[in-house]
Amino acid sequence: MKVLVVGGGGREHAIVWKLSQSPRVAKLYCAPGNGGIASLAECVNIKATDLEGIAAFAKENQIDLTVVAPDDPLAMGMVDRLEVEGLCAFGPRKAAAELESSKVFAKQFMKKYGIPSAKYEAFDRYEDAVSYLAQSQFPIVIKADGLALGKGVVIAFSLEEGITAVKEMMLDRKFGDAGKRVLIEEFLTGPEVSILAFTDGNTFVPMVSSQDHKRAYDNDEGPNTGGMGAFSPSRYYTPEIAQYVEKNIIEPTIRGMREEGRTFQGVIYFGLMLTPSGPKVLEYNARFGDPETQVVLPRLKTDLLEIMEAVIEKRLNQVRIQWDDRAAVCVVLASAGYPGSYRKGLPIEINTDCLIFHAGTKRTEHGLVTDGGRVLGVTALGENVEDCVRKVYEHIKSIHFEGMHYRRDIGRK
Ligand code: AMP
Ligand code: GLY
Repeated sequence: MKVLVVGGGGREHAIVWKLSQSPRVAKLYCAPGNGGIASLAECVNIKATDLEGIAAFAKENQIDLTVVAPDDPLAMGMVDRLEVEGLCAFGPRKAAAELESSKVFAKQFMKKYGIPSAKYEAFDRYEDAVSYLAQSQFPIVIKADGLALGKGVVIAFSLEEGITAVKEMMLDRKFGDAGKRVLIEEFLTGPEVSILAFTDGNTFVPMVSSQDHKRAYDNDEGPNTGGMGAFSPSRYYTPEIAQYVEKNIIEPTIRGMREEGRTFQGVIYFGLMLTPSGPKVLEYNARFGDPETQVVLPRLKTDLLEIMEAVIEKRLNQVRIQWDDRAAVCVVLASAGYPGSYRKGLPIEINTDCLIFHAGTKRTEHGLVTDGGRVLGVTALGENVEDCVRKVYEHIKSIHFEGMHYRRDIGRK
């Protein structure tokens, strides 16, 4: 089979890496891909958000399966667009992807189906949001409705901070139209766990648990990033909690989406907070998480292609999905300055053969160079998380680029 993966980060490298192990994949393409993906797939220079470009390429090259990995093309309806051409695509259609692309939709949905989540109010008018804040307790959470590169969430500790956040989103349009509407949400506490699940709209199969590290610096300090590392499994996600989550969160979500006429087929991501009053949904994503995928897929023993086909053909109940008992850890090596501005094109030296998922690299005639804020995700499997941590940091000693920075506490949450 000929398979095309849309995207070009660490998550897509992990997906391509896993698909490349399938005996039934004859040829892999990735659009746009990156310097690491290039060793496993033919990279084609089409943007992940170019619906027409991707559809034309898939048609011309008779691609048997297109895997749409990032949030933007899913929200734009890339899967629907490919299906119009009679092409086979993995990922939710636009109406289902709204679970991620509109936080207001997600909150209304959860309320309707009794899925535990933080209390909230939604606002279209700046004045209404401000007067609500004026009679609120702090801290409180303010969220832009739409996609904002994972940066549209502010925890306000005072009225002043709250008003600033609302003003930046609604009036200054810091996140463009994504901030036209805002949500103001109850502040929850507890450990965070990421649960991804495969679903064909009827059956769902949860993957092994994981946790990511969103802040730039050790001890969860500094600005939010796209993710500085991840590990799997989470020690907080006990079998009892898993059972509760499947019954009270995953099952009603899959059923509710079906009842809404928005049958969800693909990977659904539950960002959970394990609060003192039980697990609650912080957010849904309509896709594999990044960097969670980099620790979850190395633990998957079953052929990913087979699972994806079963999801599309609605026969996931016939597939037995198996997991490796070992743990996994991924530490992200970032460019100096990230998540602010950073330089690109710096040479990368790698003197280890461990598992590395490239996030922002490029192959040039002078060798591998940096090409993004997050550059590499160094990954190891091991007996337990501590064992993986030891291995990963040992490997990192053999990797270098100018200004490279990374957290030293991944896997220690
Ligand atoms: P989100 O993009 O919705 O996952 O939010 C990003 C981060 O903000 C989460 O990973 C949490 O750490 C934090 N967060 C989101 N919603 C809440 C909430 N209601 N209470 C406390 N923290 C939250
Ligand atoms: N790791 C969080 C996300 O993929 O959105």
